[in-house]
Amino acid sequence: MKIPIEKPVLVTSALPYVNGECHIGHLRTYVPADIYVRMFRKMGYDVTFVSGSDTHGTPIVLSAEAQGITPGEVIVKYHAHFKQVFKELHVDFDYYGQTDSETNHRRTEDIVMKLIENGHVYKGEIKQAFCTTCGRFLPDRYVEGTCPYCGESARGDECDQGCGKHLEPGEIMEPRCKICGNEAEFKDQEHFFLKLSSFTDFLLDYLDTLGGTLNARNYAKEWVKKELLDWCITRNLEWGVKFPGREDLVVYVWVDAPIGYIAFTEELLAARSGDENAWRRFWKEDKATVVHFIGTDIIYHHCIFWPAMLKGAGYSLPAAVVASGMVKIDGKKFSKSRGDVVWVTEFLERFHPDTLRYYLVAQSSHTKELDFSWQSFAMRVNKELVAIFGNLVYRVLSFASKNFGVVPDGDIEEEVFEAIKKTKEEVISAVEDYEFKKFVDAVMKLADFGNSYFQREEPWHLIKQGDQGRERCGAIVKNVLQLIKAICILLEAVMPAKMEEAWQQLGMENDVHTVQLDELLVPIESGIALKEPGRLFEKVEL
Ligand code: MSP
Ligand code: ZN
Repeated sequence: MKIPIEKPVLVTSALPYVNGECHIGHLRTYVPADIYVRMFRKMGYDVTFVSGSDTHGTPIVLSAEAQGITPGEVIVKYHAHFKQVFKELHVDFDYYGQTDSETNHRRTEDIVMKLIENGHVYKGEIKQAFCTTCGRFLPDRYVEGTCPYCGESARGDECDQGCGKHLEPGEIMEPRCKICGNEAEFKDQEHFFLKLSSFTDFLLDYLDTLGGTLNARNYAKEWVKKELLDWCITRNLEWGVKFPGREDLVVYVWVDAPIGYIAFTEELLAARSGDENAWRRFWKEDKATVVHFIGTDIIYHHCIFWPAMLKGAGYSLPAAVVASGMVKIDGKKFSKSRGDVVWVTEFLERFHPDTLRYYLVAQSSHTKELDFSWQSFAMRVNKELVAIFGNLVYRVLSFASKNFGVVPDGDIEEEVFEAIKKTKEEVISAVEDYEFKKFVDAVMKLADFGNSYFQREEPWHLIKQGDQGRERCGAIVKNVLQLIKAICILLEAVMPAKMEEAWQQLGMENDVHTVQLDELLVPIESGIALKEPGRLFEKVEL
């Protein structure tokens, strides 16, 4: 699906649970989304980029219990943490909200009321896990057991170790209480359900036209084809958005969390334009293109629950869901309890954020798993950023400033323009296909071409060959500077801080972050003073 350029685009990144610190697995949702947004803006699209903290549900409540603080305190602490991480990594949201806001409470109530009015919700009894030792019901992550679909160990509401399926209350087998570890029993409890089964035909049609990555569409279609269970949308928790008319129930976190996307659009656009209804263009009137970035573990929620809710409540539908593969570590799933995890804050104590951004897209294609290892990180940095791109910039700029001090005179050769043009086309189609690895690979190839062009033309000999030699040498240098300029514009989306540095070394005075792709083929101006070059990247020692 080609995103139409006439319509505004809203890009969202899944909302992190603010129940603990950010690890590099999370970043595979945020960094590629940020790259996508930067590229689409360079391509001339009008893009708005929002996300925010997911502040409800058992992930938050359990974390509060474990730390002996209130859920409110937990979310304040980690909301600030995530905001800081995004700032350091240059994941530049136009708006980063949180789902406990008044707007989100209001928007959630509105959507739930619409679903009730439209006849999509009914009251029913379910068997809910109950711990006799702790004397309480065990919603979602309070219970652990075995997945009835694949037999792997699972949490109450999701098969997190196996097939990834969402689990309804009562579905988990051999339930145990997460708090005391004792066997749980099932007890009847009254809850509210969304008639998900009646959305089956709608979902099959919708998924056929859904843009984004195929893994999302296909995974969701398979489950829809098998059979949709009705969806229990309430929980007995104190913390959350109250179910309308019921003080004892809150809505399930997967109801109010995606509604956050709407609430954040409302909050941002109202503050920007003063128009309280500006959000409607995106979510009611189908006048915009909505693209969701998520990880594969939450496809079910974004491709089944979410469109059903929107459809049932009369809202417009997202155009694309882009699902990244999961980040593993030395072949294993991330696990905080086993210590198999890399924290972003610790990473940034040693390495530049841009090297992490680059690694996250260069290491494997977006929909594939990414197996993190320090070796592979060191290899990407040393063999690509240092040896290919960093080397090109340092070598050519050192030579140029020593011999010319400014961008020399000369024409850009057809061969060089052709190489840039080809890369531009490859990059655009890669980004449109959410193939971020192809994007960076294409740019590295252009840097490679720059190195071999410089090597082949031997400007260090030319410079010694009189006026004519010097002139030819200058032209060669200018051509390579043109390549570096093009690479900076393209890689800004991936490494915004480092490209700003390189841009300054090139003597450019405009803002590299807002330069459009049309600039790629505009000849670099002769006569601008080059800055003292410094090395852009340091080698990573293992
Ligand atoms: N709160 C929900 C999302 C609600 S969206 C309406 C949630 N939060 S999360 O903190 O668990 O995950 C946030 C994002 O990070 C999700 O897109 C998730 O897929 C992604 N990842 C979390 N761990 C991950 C890996 N180990 N690997 C890749 N992505 C992962 O889900
Ligand atoms: Zn399973």
